[in-house]
This record gives sequence, structure tokens and C-alpha cells, in this order.
Amino acid sequence: MKQGEKTDVLILGAGAAGLFCAGVAARRGRRVVVIDHARRLGEKIRISGGGRCNFTNLNADIAHFISDNPRFALSALKRFGPRDFLSLIEENGIPWREKAAGQLFCARSARDIVDMLLRRCQEGGVEILPGVAVTQTEKMPEGGFRVQTAGGVHRASSLVIATGGLSVPKIGASDFGYRIARQFALPVVPVRPGLVPLTFAESLLAHTRPLSGIALEGAGIACGRVRFQDDILFTHRGLSGPAVLQISSYWREGREITVDLCPGADIAGALLAAKRQRPRSRPAAVLSRFLPRRLGEFCCDGLQQPLGEIADKRLRKLGDAVNMWRILPSGSEGYRTAEVTVGGVDTRALSSKTMETRDVPGLYFIGEVVDVTGHLGGYNFQWAWSSAHAAGQFV
Ligand code: FDA
Repeated sequence: MKQGEKTDVLILGAGAAGLFCAGVAARRGRRVVVIDHARRLGEKIRISGGGRCNFTNLNADIAHFISDNPRFALSALKRFGPRDFLSLIEENGIPWREKAAGQLFCARSARDIVDMLLRRCQEGGVEILPGVAVTQTEKMPEGGFRVQTAGGVHRASSLVIATGGLSVPKIGASDFGYRIARQFALPVVPVRPGLVPLTFAESLLAHTRPLSGIALEGAGIACGRVRFQDDILFTHRGLSGPAVLQISSYWREGREITVDLCPGADIAGALLAAKRQRPRSRPAAVLSRFLPRRLGEFCCDGLQQPLGEIADKRLRKLGDAVNMWRILPSGSEGYRTAEVTVGGVDTRALSSKTMETRDVPGLYFIGEVVDVTGHLGGYNFQWAWSSAHAAGQFV
């Protein structure tokens, strides 16, 4: 397309949502241009899922998404859900495998998904411009949009913002989408890192650092009324592992989390029973039946007397330290390692059917830039596909 010539659809951001939307729109015969400031396209897809991209989750329903407007995602997920994306994967001959229940990964490489998205764009004649920085965006009085880049001017009837969230800035994440929203006076739900390890203050770390490297299967973790059960990992900065990443999306600074290191086992009950049956044994010996030795000793917190010499109340407290360990994280590892950004363009400003903004006809937001955040397990890519498909049908 010649510089300055008007196209039908201009998509900013060539990630999961942008590339998929481009392919969908192109199949409808729309002329599409995609611009990305990064040189490598679909980079987050490539690094996702440990290089195997957990591209969807068969259980994707709104219960697995966080948003100020919890039902917003429903319509797009219904119209293009996990089975629809899976059909596409199969039509394209991409081998896949189900890891945990419903979590689908590429069997070979995440590269297969990037290649599929690029191929669909190519087949539809989509023009992709990598390494191009956008300097100015405006709505034209006669309709449509004008986007100024370092390389020249682009005009389009529809403008789709698919620039993602703030996580992992070193591969191109930026606040561009939120800035565009503000430019057009659209509300933005405050953003914070999600699916991210939590960190402890030095005073707590001084005790927990020796535990670094210990992994526990199926620990329980709660923040307020939200609870997950999955693996946790002690790190030299705090806690990580799937259960911690999940709860991090709900955690806010200043709030406590509660960790059950041994769900299903009544540790206080076990200690009291052992006190009656074997009063000369030590608390750490009882805990070692349930927890790795180092962790058990940490929970005992210096309590080394024989069980018979320890008051029942103190043993109950020790039981609580295992089944209901209350922690006040000092923060998170931030956008450097967060998998997603919670918050974003307020969905109340968007049509749930088309992702078009209600007040600025022709302007669309899709993917992670929108205030819809999935749990860990393939839900975030499914949101990228579903929202991109919704917009791709209308742009
Ligand atoms: P995405 O971030 O993919 O793309 C945005 C694009 O916009 C980028 O190409 C960027 O360069 C471009 N851009 C940004 N600013 C711009 C600007 N100013 N001008 C032009 N272009 C700009 N999810 C999941 O479901 N399963 C998984 O296995 C994983 N794994 C995973 C691992 C890691 C390490 C991370 C960081 C994230 C995940 N995720 C995930 C989350 C998932 O990657 C994420 O939700 C989607 O990539 C979001 O897709 P988008 O297209 O919205 O943004």
C-alpha cells in the first residue's frame, strides 16, 4: 500500500490478538495493515508456556477471568471459544497435547502458532510493518483515523489497538494502548502486574531465604475469599509457583495472603494425638511426616521440647502456622516477570460484541490491553483469540 493511501483496517500491535484479528478481517476481504514497534513479531507467543505456548484452555468460561465487569468476556468467548481455536490448530496440522486438565500446549513449539498466524495474514494479503514506531494518532473530521509513524502516514477507516499490557517490557510491552484510551477520553481501570511471583520484606526473608528452592505440591493459597490449590515454590525473594501466580492477580499491596502448606491434613490434630501417644517425640518429627524437613523445622520456629512439655494451645498455634500461615507480602516481582497486566481499558467503554468503543466509532481495543485478565492456564491467549475474532468480524 502506498504511503498515505487509505486502508480499511489499521491494527497497532502484531501480537496474539493483532495478528489473529488481521487474519480474520482479511478473510472477509478487508484490506489490513498491521504495525508493530518491535522487529520480532509474536514474541510473547514464542516465549510463552516455556516455548510450547499454552494456547487455550478447554474450560474457558468467565469464572476464569478477572474484570471490573465480570460478564463482559462472555459474548466473545461464546462466539469464538477454545474448541474453535483448536479446530484451527488442527486444520493447520499443528500437533498439540493436553497437559493439566483442559490446558492445551503445542507439542512441538510455540513457533507453530506464530507461523500459523503469519501464514493466515499472508494468505489474506495483510501488510505487516515491523519495527515501526507510532508517533501520533488522530481521528479525522471526515471519518476514519490518521496514524503518523516514523516511516510516514497511514489512514484507515477502522483502528484496532492490540498493543497488549505492560508485562515484559524488554520484548516490546508499552503503555501505548492506555495512552490512546486517555487521548480519546476512554476510562482505564488502574493496572497492576498479574501472574507474578510475590516478594517478602527483608525481615521475613531473613527467615525464609534458607527455604529457597523448596517446592510443595498442591498447597492452598487464599487472598480474601479467593482460593487456589496448586504448587508453590520458595524463592530467594519470596514465593512463586502456579498457586502464587494465580493469587497474585487478586492480591493488592497491604493485604495478607494465607497459605495452607498441607491441605487436607489437620496438623494441630496430628500434633495433639502424637503428644498423647508419644509425649517424648519432638514437633519437628511429627511435621516431617507432612512437610519437607527444612520447612517443618522452619514452622516449629525454635520449638524443640518434647511434645509432652508443650501446652496444647501452643501446639494448636503450630498447627495453624502450617495450615493457615498468614503472610504479608511486601510486593511482587513487577512487570519484569509478570505474565499479564490486570486492569486496562474499561470494558464499559466497549461493545462486548464487537470490541468497538461506544463513543469513538471505528476505534477498537482487543487482547490484554482491555480490562479482562485470565487465570493461569491458557485463558489469556483464549481472550486474545476471542476478542480478536469479535473485532475481526466487524472492522
Ligand atoms: P501481546 O503482548 O502479545 O502483543 C502486543 C504487541 O503490541 C507486541 O508485539 C508489542 O511489540 C506491540 N506493541 C506494544 N506497544 C506498541 C507500540 N507503542 N507501537 C506498536 N506496537 C506496540 N498466556 C496464555 O494464555 N498461555 C501461556 O502459556 C502464556 N505464557 C506466557 C508467558 C510469558 C513469559 C508471558 C509474559 C505471558 C504469557 N501469557 C500466556 C500471556 C499472553 O502472552 C498474553 O496475554 C498475550 O500475549 C496477550 O496478547 P496481546 O496480543 O493482547 O498482546
